[in-house]
Amino acid sequence: MDNRAIGIFDSGLGGLTAVKELRRLLPNEHIIYFGDTGRVPYGSRGRAIIQKYAMQDIAFLKQHDVKLILAACGTASSALTPQQTDCIGIPYSGVVLPSAQAACAATVSGRIGVIGTSATVRSGAYGRAIRSIRPDVHVFGNACPLFVPLVENGFIQPDNEITTKVAEQYLLPMRKEQIDVLILGCTHYPLIYSIIDRIFESKVTLIDPGREVARWAQGYLAQHGLLGEGDGRCEFYVSDSPEGFTETAALFMGENIKSDVTQVDIDAISELAL
Ligand code: DGL
Repeated sequence: MDNRAIGIFDSGLGGLTAVKELRRLLPNEHIIYFGDTGRVPYGSRGRAIIQKYAMQDIAFLKQHDVKLILAACGTASSALTPQQTDCIGIPYSGVVLPSAQAACAATVSGRIGVIGTSATVRSGAYGRAIRSIRPDVHVFGNACPLFVPLVENGFIQPDNEITTKVAEQYLLPMRKEQIDVLILGCTHYPLIYSIIDRIFESKVTLIDPGREVARWAQGYLAQHGLLGEGDGRCEFYVSDSPEGFTETAALFMGENIKSDVTQVDIDAISELAL
């Protein structure tokens, strides 16, 4: 048993989809969430900046003596190198490998689509992870840069016309590739799950990266005797004003946030402090 917290971060609110799943699977775990709301989006930036931001986020979580760190962000997960994640010094997972494993297990046709931010798709990280598991699989990638701002601004209703139009633009070409599995390679995208599902006429298995990393965490903690038996409290930290966070987070997580939200000066934390 280990009652230390699980540390989890994202560039903004998307990682809360992983928190939601963690709370469902592991209700006794203490969770510390950091959302870099002052610097979102990461996905339109260059790799070196994303790496720096992600390492600062990790250094912040490490200050809280967490037992495990999860990058609930496709962009950060894709940008970090194994050399960087090896330096963290405590167990870590991003969303890429757990999502790739789920996609490989689900595909029958061997044709998998991956959508994500521009940085994620450019990195090719999901494709590499998929091919390391199933070299025979064909991977089709497409960047969907407008999805994150649409989600962050609450354009997530299943019948939202603007998001539906944007999604058609991004996804109809991919439908022609006859994929049978689609990785929603950014943790914001499950918030528009039904819009994406409708475009594929519910014929494609959609992989939710937040859910997959939460499942991975459950397996890892159980296997290593690290499961917690606490009260399941959540602490939330953000890098912009916490105003409005509670309401939007409640929408993302499907439950009310009872704890306070604290603002952090993330720029003051050195990424070299690991
Ligand atoms: N949730 C992040 C991801 O999974 C959002 C990316 C962004 O900040 O652009 O990629």
